[in-house]
Amino acid sequence: TSPLVVAIDGPSGSGKSSTSRGVADRLGLAYLDTGAMYRAMTWALLQRGVDLDDPAAVASAADAVRLESGTDPLAPTIHADGTDVAEPIRTDEVTGAVSLVAAVPHVRELLVDLQRRAIGEAPGGIVVEGRDIGSVVVPDAPVKIYLVADPAARAARRAAENGGADAAATEAALAVRDQIDSTRAASPLVQAHGAVVVDGTHLTLDEVIDTIVGIVDAAS
Ligand code: C5P
Repeated sequence: TSPLVVAIDGPSGSGKSSTSRGVADRLGLAYLDTGAMYRAMTWALLQRGVDLDDPAAVASAADAVRLESGTDPLAPTIHADGTDVAEPIRTDEVTGAVSLVAAVPHVRELLVDLQRRAIGEAPGGIVVEGRDIGSVVVPDAPVKIYLVADPAARAARRAAENGGADAAATEAALAVRDQIDSTRAASPLVQAHGAVVVDGTHLTLDEVIDTIVGIVDAAS
């Protein structure tokens, strides 16, 4: 039998990262944060001074960027061109630009290739979170989750993570990013065929993790 892959997709701020790490930890699986890869690519292109409004420039510069992801759910790592970028990829500058970079088809080809390789290097199974994991990266994943939450709940969570940032401004920024991610031509955010919807709006993190672990157990 092929190794277990749990695909977790959903909009920004739905709690995917904490949830995915928790599920991987509980089940003894590896963990891959594909959003961190798109963020790290964005960081590297900004470092190079690439005009992110120019898809052709983004596509040609992307080939030279070297990304490495560590897949331990308790200590995930992300490096770009040998630099640890775990912190700089969370800045407003990167967050505001990442959806532009992620809409470029060649960038997606490069990163999907890296993601499939990372999955292949996790024979014990892996939880993979993103926007297109169940639809494009691993369409035959045995478990697919579409994690959602009300916009206000997502904004409140993100604002709290950002040290008490303004919730209304955060909700507006999430809405812009979701709009770009859901309407782009290349691999838009969609509920994948066969995905189970989990709504975390009224659940604690532990309850969401329990729910998904239950779905994985039932599937295997
Ligand atoms: O999950 P996170 O918010 O870190 O993702 C950052 C951005 O990366 C998303 O807004 C989206 O534009 C892009 N992304 C993507 N496909 C994925 C994961 C993330 O396009 N599988």
